[in-house]
Amino acid sequence: MTADALHPLLAGRYSPLQFDRGHELTDADVELLLEAARWAPSAGNSQPWSFVVARRGTAAHARLVERLAPSSRQWAPSAGVLIVNLAHRYVEDTDWDYSEFAEYDLGQAVAHLTVQAHAMGLACRQFRAFDLDGLRADLRPADGWRILTMTAVGRPVGAAPPARTRRSITDLTTAGVDS
Ligand SMILES: Cc1cc2nc3c(=O)[nH]c(=O)nc-3n(C[C@H](O)[C@H](O)[C@H](O)COP(=O)(O)O)c2cc1C
Repeated sequence: MTADALHPLLAGRYSPLQFDRGHELTDADVELLLEAARWAPSAGNSQPWSFVVARRGTAAHARLVERLAPSSRQWAPSAGVLIVNLAHRYVEDTDWDYSEFAEYDLGQAVAHLTVQAHAMGLACRQFRAFDLDGLRADLRPADGWRILTMTAVGRPVGAAPPARTRRSITDLTTAGVDS
């Protein structure tokens, strides 16, 4: 079996390294992306996610760009929107779990957003290449919340990468256990 048998939304999705710097997302685009994240499954329906959304051309966007690593600075600023992805990890002012699945659930919400973006002719590149301490100082996450990643969303330019590779199904069904 090959990726060709997959639904086109999954087979065609990829994380671009080039975005159209002239393309802007509409308010409706942004709302629909967040709507997709909103409907992701989560443990106990806890929905332990939050998103800081900044459009290119705004002061909020410029502030995020300041915190990008040299690698992501080459491509992320040209995306129409940058999103900071946060998980609700602990109960406020305690070290008790708000949800031990907070990061897992955030990942699913971002995956939903990513597939929705592809359906809209957009594309996402999730990334960790930013100054976490600096971003934390700028955004001051609420107590119990953690910044995990960012997502650049925009209209991709150029061709999809020719050789996206993956581990085999045999490996992914055997590697995780010893017996
Ligand atoms: C949690 C996470 C962190 C990532 N961090 C980075 C990053 O810092 N820089 C980068 O260029 N890509 C980053 N990526 C993108 C991955 O490299 C990319 O998804 C992977 O190579 C598979 O490519 P594809 O999405 O096109 O299938 C990240 C992706 C995820 C899910």
